[in-house]
Amino acid sequence: MNRPYIIIVSEVTIDGKLTLKRGASSKEIMQFMDEEATKYLHQIRAKVDGIMVGAETIRTDNPFLTVRYAEGKNPTRIVPTSQANIPLDANILQKHAPTIIVTTENAPENKVKALEEKVEVIKCGENQVDLIKMMDVLYNKGIKTLMVEGGSTLNWNLIKLGLVDEIRLIHMPFIIGGEDTPTFVGGEGFKSLDEIVKAKLRAHFLRGSHLITEWEIKYED
Ligand SMILES: NC(=O)c1ccc[n+]([C@@H]2O[C@H](COP(=O)([O-])OP(=O)(O)OC[C@H]3O[C@@H](n4cnc5c(N)ncnc54)[C@H](OP(=O)(O)O)[C@@H]3O)[C@@H](O)[C@H]2O)c1
Repeated sequence: MNRPYIIIVSEVTIDGKLTLKRGASSKEIMQFMDEEATKYLHQIRAKVDGIMVGAETIRTDNPFLTVRYAEGKNPTRIVPTSQANIPLDANILQKHAPTIIVTTENAPENKVKALEEKVEVIKCGENQVDLIKMMDVLYNKGIKTLMVEGGSTLNWNLIKLGLVDEIRLIHMPFIIGGEDTPTFVGGEGFKSLDEIVKAKLRAHFLRGSHLITEWEIKYED
């Protein structure tokens, strides 16, 4: 199978949280991010072919996913959603950059048609978006490098399937707590040491007041 080189980039608190509480937009905590760290994020966006987030992040945060604090072109925005459940006024449906919505054969046809009037829609999988098949399709469409900006459900599914090459974290200097607050990686979690995914620290440095850590994923070890 062909697939893009995949980098997850995320802002995480000291306790590994992505946002204030379940259902809250991460934009609330992002307002405390330094300009230098924001530039770091946008410099990565400017270098990749595609940028992906889970559909829940679209519904909660309504991001643009464009390059605004760095020089460079906007990557293609890609969102998996099993039931084509993307609000028609979502910012990613505006024409700042190309957008691909990835849905399934069983998505409601009226929702698919409404999205198709605005952006490209492709189908991968019957009931759930088949992420492996999707990566093959995206690669063949010219997406050779893909940045993923969460949320925790999409991060889990990609990591579980062995689809992640790198993780880059922008550390936010606060603690949120809460058992139900989304963490960097959600899902059911690995239940044995044989399954856990190992990473090698490649770099660590400051951008403004934020620690940045960059990790290479080692599935084979
Ligand atoms: N701090 C950060 O860097 C950061 C970044 C991003 C998001 N966030 C926060 O994270 C939270 C959202 O995270 P989340 O875990 O609830 O949702 P998510 O990972 O953003 O989106 C998950 C959704 O993606 C869709 N999807 C379709 N196929 C999928 C597949 N094969 N695997 C995984 N997802 C698939 C599903 O929606 P359908 O029902 O449409 O199929 C699923 O519910 C928000 O609070 C947001 O603010 C934080």
